[in-house]
Amino acid sequence: MARLLDGKVVIITGCSTGIGRATAIECARHGAKLVLHHIGDAQAKLDIFDLKKDIEAFEKGSKEVRAIDIATNITDDGAGKRLVDAAVSAFGEVNGLVNNAGICQFTDFDAVTKDQAEKHMAVNYHGTFGITQAVVRQMIRQGKGGSIVSIASVCATVGSAQLAHYSATKAAVLGMTVSCAVAMGRHGIRFNAVSPGTVETGMNKGDLVGSKREWMESRVPLGRLGVPQDIAKPVVFFISDMAEYVSGQNLIVDGASTVYYQ
Ligand SMILES: NC(=O)c1ccc[n+]([C@@H]2O[C@H](COP(=O)([O-])OP(=O)(O)OC[C@H]3O[C@@H](n4cnc5c(N)ncnc54)[C@H](O)[C@@H]3O)[C@@H](O)[C@H]2O)c1
Repeated sequence: MARLLDGKVVIITGCSTGIGRATAIECARHGAKLVLHHIGDAQAKLDIFDLKKDIEAFEKGSKEVRAIDIATNITDDGAGKRLVDAAVSAFGEVNGLVNNAGICQFTDFDAVTKDQAEKHMAVNYHGTFGITQAVVRQMIRQGKGGSIVSIASVCATVGSAQLAHYSATKAAVLGMTVSCAVAMGRHGIRFNAVSPGTVETGMNKGDLVGSKREWMESRVPLGRLGVPQDIAKPVVFFISDMAEYVSGQNLIVDGASTVYYQ
């Protein structure tokens, strides 16, 4: 298999579980050196320990460090700088960032609280913005460009009855993506988004039950719900030099469900 990320240093936020974990595995399979960011609770520490073992297995016998981990809440002041400093001290530079950490609580619009809506915006948008800005500043200092990929959602562009507060945060991420693609092009820094449809992870375990699960599945022309690897592979493409002239794009990865009319 051709390795698309040899020599690249990539930071992935929220990668102890789900899409982030699969993205870390896929980036490692393609030769990247990784900064594995996680929230830092006891479960995340166990999950990251297992993830690092899986990553080390790709380079059996090598003594080279392939992945380091760092715990922060992405909403903390200085979280982005901590991630960048860790990357630079371990690997010398940063070439890619995957903005993956996020939250999503399914709630009827008339029941959403102000706190809930603000927390979604604080994590999914402001947290993502802060990490991105710190990484971009480092990439500008390095002077050799870079690639930022943000995990948005189909909810940014199509309606979901219980996700108005969440959809707004992902629409904000798409807005940031296109404007940063314009602003940072002169530095060779590319910005793209990957918008998953329904991917089975811990995030939607409580929602994908009984008849709702069957209904969601029946609406996917490719015949199944997504799995985290379905999202990880396009992320590798965007980080890689295969996408060196691709910036400001939003790739919907949903088995054709959002274009399914009849
Ligand atoms: N699963 C889906 O169907 C789906 C669809 C569209 C978009 N997404 C997006 O994909 C991304 C990954 O979600 P997932 O489905 O893998 O769910 P997940 O819950 O497994 O992953 C989210 C990760 O973000 C971390 N996180 C949450 N808040 C954080 C914070 N404040 N600071 C640091 N880390 C934090 C969590 O610890 C977790 O590891 C999210 O941005 C989500 O919105 C998921």
